Amino acid sequence: MKPRLSKINQISPDQSVICILGSKDIPENLMLSKTEKEFAHKRILAREEYVIINSYHKFTYLILVKEGLGNYRTKEELRRTAFNLRKVIKSNNHPELVITADKVYEGSVGDFAEGLILSFYSFDKYKTREDEREKKNYPAELLLHGDIDDEEIRWLADLSDAVYKARDLINEPVNHLNAVALSEEMKKMGSEAGFEIEVMNKGKIEALKMGGLLAVNKGSVDPPVFCILEWRPENSLNKKPVVLVGKGIVYDTGGLNIKTGDHMDNMKADMAGAATVAGVLTVAAKTGIPLHVIGLIPATDNRPGGNAYVQGDIITMHNNITVEVGNTDAEGRLILADAISYASRYSPELIINVATLTGSAAMTFGNQAIAVMGNAEKKYFELLEECGNEVYERTARLPFWEEYGELIKSDIADLKNVGGREAGAITAGKFLENFTKFPFIHMDIAGTGSLKKDDYYRLKDGPGSGLRLLSAFLKKLTAIYKEQN
Ligand code: BES
Ligand code: MN
Ligand code: ZN
Repeated sequence: MKPRLSKINQISPDQSVICILGSKDIPENLMLSKTEKEFAHKRILAREEYVIINSYHKFTYLILVKEGLGNYRTKEELRRTAFNLRKVIKSNNHPELVITADKVYEGSVGDFAEGLILSFYSFDKYKTREDEREKKNYPAELLLHGDIDDEEIRWLADLSDAVYKARDLINEPVNHLNAVALSEEMKKMGSEAGFEIEVMNKGKIEALKMGGLLAVNKGSVDPPVFCILEWRPENSLNKKPVVLVGKGIVYDTGGLNIKTGDHMDNMKADMAGAATVAGVLTVAAKTGIPLHVIGLIPATDNRPGGNAYVQGDIITMHNNITVEVGNTDAEGRLILADAISYASRYSPELIINVATLTGSAAMTFGNQAIAVMGNAEKKYFELLEECGNEVYERTARLPFWEEYGELIKSDIADLKNVGGREAGAITAGKFLENFTKFPFIHMDIAGTGSLKKDDYYRLKDGPGSGLRLLSAFLKKLTAIYKEQN
């Protein structure tokens, strides 16, 4: 559950209001008394992040937008202020709350609402004691006033629903969500949102000779799945689809090269890429993005076991390339390679892979950037960067030079699945590049896909990294197509 969103045209005197201010003037429609205004002015002049006025019958929250920040930073400041206010807002028990703005940039109401909704999420379904559950006393209704239209509200509602759903999937532990259960959840998402989904079982995966997915699955007691999600609207503007591939490792123990120390922490989140892809398909279908989009999700857990694959094994992949296993903990690229190879049958315009793939990406960028790399045209990377700034899921590009490809050559097979300690994020991307001839972008969300603590509204554990970014990307791509026609 999350707050509902609707639009209002007028604020009534007894409604509690959040007002985003672009200047120090306090608008008349807030109906504050002279003394309340004086109080507010003092606080605003003292440059406080927000001012809360507790009138007898309502609350008024005033937020002065910080000056001197670039536009996308300003947007992010508002989302963060929303996060900072989430607890006070809850403790004030508003059944409904108005969000309005005065003399601010267009879109500010939506930005604040987005930050607030994403901050109200909690994963507490396994708390059996009511009083220990995160109190759900956020406003049941957010009433948006001012510079926001119905389409934007729809987008925000559908997008935040999808982020909530992705977070639920990521936070669900493997004993409640194995690969088959994940595919069942995706079926539900498909029928609710309106995209098609086909789930291939182990028999079909064997028939397709997806050697990577099958090898990683060997140590598991649960079968693997391969999910194909498809959104193909009648009015689609692209002849060739965009294919999104998501890593669906429902738990990564490392396999026989087992993870030691704290490296296994939160490895239930190793399917964050899969959750993101399913979330993006949901947004595309619900908001009716006029683009043909396909999501491919290979899923299994990675475990040691009597039959588990071992270091030294040579695997024949879906496209017949052979891979020497240098480390069973480099499992993500094995299952993804089969999916990327499978994508060829769609002759895609672009393949985007999303995966919690390497500790190396996390060590390089921490939780502040998604590592991106690939061989697709520059315009796609620029579009990703632009969208990344807008939604503040920023991307940082890594080189993709052919020399890095040398590091993953094997003496006895075509490739090996590890390239040594150096340039680990890049060699993982280079590995994947071998499995397609189509334009390819790889996004490594290892640093952003699971967080040890809240980064404002990007909440800890599974924040849903990449979902808002890729949704914005598809929206922008739509606009570009429309311009061309
Ligand atoms: N799922 C991990 C990557 C990861 C690490 C995600 C930390 C999130 C946080 C991946 O499967 C993995 O184990 N990668 C290895 C590859 C290595 C064996 C070449 C790594 O990065 O250590
Ligand atoms: Mn691993
Ligand atoms: Zn992994």
